[in-house]
Amino acid sequence: MNKPEIIKLPKIADVRGNLSFFETTKHIPFEIKRSYWIYDVPGGETRGGHAYKENCEFVVALSGSFDVVLDNGNGGKETFSLNRSYYGLYIPRLYWRQMCNFSTNALALVVASTEYDENDYLRNYDDFCSYAKDTKI
Ligand code: TYD
Repeated sequence: MNKPEIIKLPKIADVRGNLSFFETTKHIPFEIKRSYWIYDVPGGETRGGHAYKENCEFVVALSGSFDVVLDNGNGGKETFSLNRSYYGLYIPRLYWRQMCNFSTNALALVVASTEYDENDYLRNYDDFCSYAKDTKI
């Protein structure tokens, strides 16, 4: 899967409270090596502002809402609004991402296909565009 995609997750509706889940490779198209979460984001703040050479991610708004803006470095820019805990956004490698418009109490769960590696980051937008252009996906 080379394109970003909203994936609908199972939702077990229950009067005692709903339950959702995902499993590696069954609901998301990679093996999970790492999980992290973003929380306590002050109003108006933006996270991200980088791309990864290899790392793919899957992002779920466990609570609240926020937008993920994805840019393929070649003029393609798309905004995905996450506001339900049974939808997630799959982000392939080589997409410049920004996360913004966090609501109060937003909680973003991110699962990743690689362990943390600063060398995998492209933190300069122009470098990202050149890298994406020269790289076969
Ligand atoms: P970064 O990925 O730049 O945050 P964001 O894109 O959400 O703005 O990470 C911020 C800091 O946290 C950076 O110093 C690296 C560290 N970090 C880890 O140590 N492990 C991780 O898994 C992640 C995602 C970040």
